[in-house]
Amino acid sequence: MDMRGVMRLDFRTLAVSAAVVVVGISAVGVAGATQKASQKQPKPGKVTFAEHIAPIVYKKCASCHRPGEVAPFSLDSYDEVKKRADMVALVAGSRQMPPWKTKPTDVPYANENRLTDAEIQMFQRWAEDGAPKGDMKKAPSPPPAVKDWSMGKPDLVLQMPKPFKLGATGTDEYWNFVIDPGIKEPVYVQGIDAKPGNKRVVHHIIAYLDDSGRSTKMAQGPKARDGGYLTTGGGIGTNPSGSFGGWAPGVAPSMLPAGVGYLLKPGTKIVLQVHYNKSGKEEIDQTKIGLYFLKGQVKAPAKIAWLANPLINIAPGDNHATFTQTVTLPADAVLYNVMPHMHKLGKAMKATAVFADGTKKVLVDVPDWDFNWQLVYAFKQPMSLPKGTKIVIEATYDNSTANPFNPNNPPKRVTWGERTSDEMMLLVATVSTKGKSEYID
Ligand code: HEC
Repeated sequence: MDMRGVMRLDFRTLAVSAAVVVVGISAVGVAGATQKASQKQPKPGKVTFAEHIAPIVYKKCASCHRPGEVAPFSLDSYDEVKKRADMVALVAGSRQMPPWKTKPTDVPYANENRLTDAEIQMFQRWAEDGAPKGDMKKAPSPPPAVKDWSMGKPDLVLQMPKPFKLGATGTDEYWNFVIDPGIKEPVYVQGIDAKPGNKRVVHHIIAYLDDSGRSTKMAQGPKARDGGYLTTGGGIGTNPSGSFGGWAPGVAPSMLPAGVGYLLKPGTKIVLQVHYNKSGKEEIDQTKIGLYFLKGQVKAPAKIAWLANPLINIAPGDNHATFTQTVTLPADAVLYNVMPHMHKLGKAMKATAVFADGTKKVLVDVPDWDFNWQLVYAFKQPMSLPKGTKIVIEATYDNSTANPFNPNNPPKRVTWGERTSDEMMLLVATVSTKGKSEYID
């Protein structure tokens, strides 16, 4: 049934052979900050916290590893990092941290947060040498305090209508909260950020748009409470008219380029879908979202395209089920960012743009998929993709018992669906077509 929801959306917009391009789901969040790696090479035997380690952890780790942020402990002082020197060296070496899952590709990213090989070596030598402190006068100043909103004050802050009470135990739940933005004029939204009311239970958030009034009725229906209604997570229980915002834990937000934004019209409701994990005790959440409006001239409306393969069919026991999907762009487009999306059987995903002359550009290449890090990879330069360009997506799944995240034991046949025990093969892309409405309306 979840699958039908997606297919409905697909046919409403555009279907290209077996592949589909769906408009409406947004994730403008991006991970990490744009930071230059510290390329300073250590002198032999002289790796210290003050001179070598502090510059790296303050820039590349402390955005999450400090009080009030998503990581479970802080890495924002000598004592905190020293305590975990070996573990830090280990996760740096395996590239488990910082969470930046794509290999370097043919296109540079605006939001890359990745360690250089030299930095990894520094962590390892520092741990081996017993984590010396060095002369703290030479250390950079500690990272600044967490700001309430990392992109500055939003133009509009909206919140769930009431504090929402989530039960203690059971499976994940998807609640949809209907919010009236109360705007009088159409606006373009250039960026969105979310402040979960309760980080223990908020797994991710998608802001859908509804101009039909149906979500408002559902929020007053039999399954509704506290201004929200329950769905299986497939969608919001009705065809959304669009979307412009997604947020996942640990994913820092970013703005679309100057002049590019998502259209929001007066009367349209924002339906905030919150995916909750249970924590073992009753929890209260009242999540907020902040919208940043585009100022100045609108150059291109942004839309979200889903490049999906809803026909995936993964046999039980198959530890290397590979699927390829090709989407041919029916019009000229500009691509701003991509977000690979799979569930817990996902192993690897790669997307490549193949131009008419045969030139290829790898857009994203995640060799070691991690369901917990649904990252948006934002391109430094928006990419022009002429009509006829093919986007080739390859995805691999592990549906064997060797996959520790396999939700089924023994493994079962798994097909497309919205529950985390179903699977997806999806590349979510933010695009604009400079008014070429045959592609994206
Ligand atoms: C985008 C947020 C983010 C950034 C940036 C980040 N971390 Fe983490 N880190 C986390 C979260 C969240 C966890 C908890 C485990 C998980 O969800 O993967 C974690 C876990 C860890 C762990 C424990 C791993 C384990 O297996 O228990 C270590 C060690 C660590 N991080 C070190 C680092 C270092 C070193 C950096 C910088 C080079 C860094 N992290 C950057 C969010 C982040």
